[in-house]
Amino acid sequence: MGVTAKIAPSMLSSDFANLASEAERILNCGADWLHMDIMDGHFVPNLTIGAPVIESLRKHTKAYLDCHLMVTNPLDYVEPLGKAGASGFTFHVEISKDNWQELVQRIKSKGMRPGVALKPGTSVEEVYPLVEGANPVEMVLVMTVEPGFGGQKFMPEMMDKVRTLRNRYPSLDIEVDGGLGPSTIAEAASAGANCIVAGSSVFGAPEPAHVISLMRKSVEDAQKNS
Ligand code: DX5
Ligand code: ZN
Repeated sequence: MGVTAKIAPSMLSSDFANLASEAERILNCGADWLHMDIMDGHFVPNLTIGAPVIESLRKHTKAYLDCHLMVTNPLDYVEPLGKAGASGFTFHVEISKDNWQELVQRIKSKGMRPGVALKPGTSVEEVYPLVEGANPVEMVLVMTVEPGFGGQKFMPEMMDKVRTLRNRYPSLDIEVDGGLGPSTIAEAASAGANCIVAGSSVFGAPEPAHVISLMRKSVEDAQKNS
């Protein structure tokens, strides 16, 4: 039993004014998860959505809501997001050095799945304690762009982090986020990523279903060959 491919379109690239129908449309195109980028205008310069929007969307879908918290105080979001119906809660390691144990415990107690994300400038060793502790995170998100905005260029040099994590943790969910699409998926998949976030390449495509299935196949092929 290995890790399975999860294709997670980033709703940041959808039409926020029609979030429920965009979610339904992209799930019908074969998406596994919906990636929800929560930004506070402080940890990153952009400001997006929070728990009220997750709560509204939850009324329209049973899908796994993969929440990526680009916020300075993730602890403040645990309770509201848990109530709102978030599924995954991925916080950044850069701002949680002192309280990640409490964070993980609270996230789990609210029925969500904890994950940890790292920015391009953060070294991979920083997440080891969070994966190897008694109360571990269940996913590591390797940012392949600077967090804050969709539509940026994939950073291939981040694949060393993915390879290191995959060698060390064969059954861990490893997610990549930023600049993923048909031209970059092979590199991420062969490095060992199995959860693929993609915003502009999916929502900007004439046939999102085609892009989603192509990315899934790339992950599955890489797993067969590994
Ligand atoms: C960036 C976000 C991403 C973003 C990805 O801070 O974390 O999830 O939406 O968008 P693309 O796939 O367009 O790079
Ligand atoms: Zn994201």
